Amino acid sequence: MKRVITFGTFDVFHVGHVNIIERARSLGDYLIVGISSDKLNISKKGRAPIYSEQDRIKIIGSLKFVDETFLEESLELKEEYLKKYNADILVMGDDWKGKFDHFNSICEVKYLERTPSVSTTELIEIAKSR
Ligand code: CTP
Repeated sequence: MKRVITFGTFDVFHVGHVNIIERARSLGDYLIVGISSDKLNISKKGRAPIYSEQDRIKIIGSLKFVDETFLEESLELKEEYLKKYNADILVMGDDWKGKFDHFNSICEVKYLERTPSVSTTELIEIAKSR
C-alpha cells in the first residue's frame, strides 16, 4: 500500500488543482493533502486566501481522490509531516522542480507538470477586471 502526500493552498479551486490531485492519487493507494493555513499564506504570498482554511479543507476533503487532509502550518515542518503521515511519495507541481530533492532519503519525490493556462492568481485578476 503506497501512501502519497502533496501540499498546496488550493484557493479558488480550479481544474489544475483537480488534475494534480487526481494524478497524485493514481501514483499510489492513499492520498494525503496538506493544505496551507491562512497564516502561512499571508507570510508566503503576502495576502490571505479568498477562501478560508476551513473551506479549503472542506473542498479538498470532499474529493473522491483524497483520503485525508491536514493543515500545513509551516513550510519548515515538511520533513515532520512526511514522517508523521508515513509518506512513500511526495508529489509537487513542477513549479517546485528540484526544490524538494533533499527529501529523497525519506520518500520518493515526484514533480508533476502543471496544467497550462490556469492559476488562482490569474483567476483573481480576471475576476477583478470584469
Ligand atoms: N497546480 C497545477 N496546475 C495549475 C495550478 C496549480 O498543477 N495550473 C498545482 C501546483 O503545482 C500545486 C497545487 O496545484 O502542486 C496547488 O497549487 P496552488 O499554489 O494552491 O495553486 P495555484 O493556482 O498555482 O495558485 P497561485 O496562483 O496563487 O500560485
